Amino acid sequence: MLGNFIYHNPTKLYFGENALDNLSTELANYGENVLLIYGGGSIKKTGLYDEIMTILKKSGKTVPEIAGVMPNPTVEKLYEGCKIAKESKADLILAVGGGSVCDYSKAVSVSTYCEEDPWDKYYIRMEDADNEIIPVGCVLTMVGTGSEMNGGAVITNHETKLKIGHVFGSNVFPKFSILNPKLTFTVPQYQMAAGFYDILNHITEQYFSNSDDNTSDYIMEGLMKSLINSSRIAVKNPKDYEARSNIMWTAAWALNTLVAMGKSTDWMVHMIGQSVGAYTDATHGMTLAAVSLPYYRYIMPYGLEKFKRFAINVWNVNPGNKTDEEIAEEGLNAMESWMKEIGLVMKISELGATEDMIEGIANGTFIMEGGYKVLTHEEIVSILKASM
Ligand code: NZQ
Ligand code: ZN
Repeated sequence: MLGNFIYHNPTKLYFGENALDNLSTELANYGENVLLIYGGGSIKKTGLYDEIMTILKKSGKTVPEIAGVMPNPTVEKLYEGCKIAKESKADLILAVGGGSVCDYSKAVSVSTYCEEDPWDKYYIRMEDADNEIIPVGCVLTMVGTGSEMNGGAVITNHETKLKIGHVFGSNVFPKFSILNPKLTFTVPQYQMAAGFYDILNHITEQYFSNSDDNTSDYIMEGLMKSLINSSRIAVKNPKDYEARSNIMWTAAWALNTLVAMGKSTDWMVHMIGQSVGAYTDATHGMTLAAVSLPYYRYIMPYGLEKFKRFAINVWNVNPGNKTDEEIAEEGLNAMESWMKEIGLVMKISELGATEDMIEGIANGTFIMEGGYKVLTHEEIVSILKASM
């Protein structure tokens, strides 16, 4: 049964190969100072930086910049960004990049006028933003996180070895996001595959909870089938527009809050994966891939009915005369084959995790209670060990 909910997603999406044509219309809604935020330089190589600068200048904007936002943006970089945003009196933040740039931009938007340490307020105490929020717009260049249409902003603190995501409310969602699938053609294969798995895992985190007849679960099965189909095409031909556009659209729906409505959600793969990320700085989607199968095989008996449904409806497993366990296992085996086919990392040891980190990673894992099994510390340790 669906619980009570309010659904409100205020992000306006411009989608398609001409999507950037709409940027100037959006810019007209904001003041003169547009703070441009981007990553390590891919947008300069692809020519997107010049294209966007031309649009900004034609729109009469003054354009301060924050460059060098790293994958898994750090709290130090956040402090630096707040200073620049304040000094430049930014009227709008324009994020051009992947999830890291979009997340970071949202973190700067809520932190610039925050009167205390934003890490403590938002990431330790998990409070809402109650100060001035600078509006954010995104031009997305890498698909996976759903950051283009949600309030998530994940920040890493290397000193305390914590990687934490704050999911802000709809007042922090990007005001607009520009999604041109062609901009994703240049993403390196490793990052592309990691992004594909991030999408699948966002869906499974919300799918593996409750087992009643729920519209959201049917939507998620459709999204997963589309992703699996298109990802197989895209890994062979990254420039297949149809596949890349389907994936871009799927990623937005996977984590724009819709499919979580009225359900409880799990998020334990993300909690464990993020803690692995805090220790290794590994690519987000790969940390998820590496811990997923040990986790799902472990919790499968607690949610057997749903794992069986997953096998049949998503992976086309033929139930025949098999037991529920056999069907469910076949589903996870099919998922494993697909993961290997698209080139995912299946072990945290391949991401730089070592035996002496296991306790710390388990300690840094936030335990959520919305899935089929509330994990103990020891269970997290054994899931991590199974991924070594
Ligand atoms: O920095 P540049 O030079 O731009 O290179 C980036 C980066 O090295 C490169 N890249 C991006 N677009 C490209 C490109 N290279 C060539 N051509 C392009 N078009 O790809 C690399 C990875 O980019 P990044 O933004 O780090 O990847 P992703 O989109 O996977 O974002 C990961 C971050 O998002 C967080 C993760 O934890 C991680 O910090 N997440 C955010 C979520 C949210 N907002 O809801 C949820 C997710 O679960 C996730 O936790
Ligand atoms: Zn994710």
